[in-house]
Amino acid sequence: MPKIRIEGGHKLTGTIPISGAKNSVVALIPTAILCDETVTISNVPEITDVDDLENILVHLNAEITRTNGKVEINSSNIINKEITETLSKKLRASYYFMGALLGKFNRVEMYFPGGCTIGARPINLHLKGFELLGAKITEEGNHFVIEAEKLKGNNIYLDFPSVGATINIMLAAVKAKGKTVIDNAAAEPEIANVATFLNNMGAKIKGAGTSTITITGVKYLHSCFHEVIPDRIEAGTYLIMGALIGENLRIENMIPNHLEALIAKLTEAGVEMEIGLDNILIKGTNNYKPIDIKTLVYPGFATDLQQVMSVFLTQCQGRSSIEETIYENRFQSLLELEKMGANVKIRPDNHKATIRGKTPLHGADVNSTDLRGGASLLVAGLIADGITNIDNISYILRGYDHIIEKLTNVGAKIEII
Ligand code: EPU
Repeated sequence: MPKIRIEGGHKLTGTIPISGAKNSVVALIPTAILCDETVTISNVPEITDVDDLENILVHLNAEITRTNGKVEINSSNIINKEITETLSKKLRASYYFMGALLGKFNRVEMYFPGGCTIGARPINLHLKGFELLGAKITEEGNHFVIEAEKLKGNNIYLDFPSVGATINIMLAAVKAKGKTVIDNAAAEPEIANVATFLNNMGAKIKGAGTSTITITGVKYLHSCFHEVIPDRIEAGTYLIMGALIGENLRIENMIPNHLEALIAKLTEAGVEMEIGLDNILIKGTNNYKPIDIKTLVYPGFATDLQQVMSVFLTQCQGRSSIEETIYENRFQSLLELEKMGANVKIRPDNHKATIRGKTPLHGADVNSTDLRGGASLLVAGLIADGITNIDNISYILRGYDHIIEKLTNVGAKIEII
């Protein structure tokens, strides 16, 4: 099995360009099949989650071409057959085919999605939304048939502002008869990106990016060109690296507004940044103060940055804390960080942890527990003394585009072995 090998301690200098957002593109690709003509999506990152979605499109007989970050999808000859268990389980975002195929054909047959094991991750809110639009759900074990004679708009209140449920309901409602209102909708930038894509095709969606989204059903969706927004979690990951081991490190092609919570917390700890329109420069590292992090839905502190941030906390002087409110099992990577010298205490309820710093980290053989956990170990390896070998790197490669090249270009000693 390939591993990532890192020789720690090398300063990062230069520019890191940010790629298209994973959590946006993984929704945009299934969304494309709702279009009645060909669509083009640009700024598509090269990550294995995109490969897995491409395999589902091929399975459904859609035509897809991928060149230089551009993807063209034509779904005119799509066959609405069952998405196999293997394909469904490859990634979390396979669940977007539920909303997309239901919206296009009034029927979908597939299995419970896969994804990182960071909590139970049920899909009850997605299913509740489909039912309120008129669908009937037959669930046998992890196999789902969701079908409707006709989808009809409705008022849908989400008990929790789930990203996946909000997008999935939008996909199912976009061609439904009449008006759908989603209340307590998630407001992540990726949701607005998907709504813009659909509106570019002729959909009528208002309010995406706020907690109330209104969708007026349309009959036909036409060809369009659409760009994936920059990946705020990738940008945040590199910003944290910059704060730890950067020297005039610029993160560019990003949207600083999407990272307000992270920027506020880094600033509170004493990180100095020059914030431009589409870039952030970190001049150097400093003596950092301890801080408290609480993960929340957008625009709160992103759970997807919590694990990478934990590495930063090991380098703050004093006691920092993390409260994880979105997932039940997102501290596994802290146990790996301990192997590298971090001083970590996880509360028995698994929702709170404290980190005491500043502790020097040393290289070790560690295991990627999930995508962002893997990224946190990579950051730890960059600042650690000696060699770090990270196992299970497929997690990291599913979400970070050209990560080895980007880091090598700014001076890191990192390779896949
Ligand atoms: N939830 C339910 N029922 C549902 C849906 C969600 O109880 O029907 C709960 C989940 O169990 C979780 C919380 O609500 O505790 C948040 O889940 P949400 O639906 O918002 O997350 P998701 O759609 O499964 C997406 C991203 C995640 C990211 C979250 C939160 C994709 C493919 N995944 O997941 O990304 O953490 O939103 O921002 O877009 C990652 O990139 O590492 C990652 C895990």
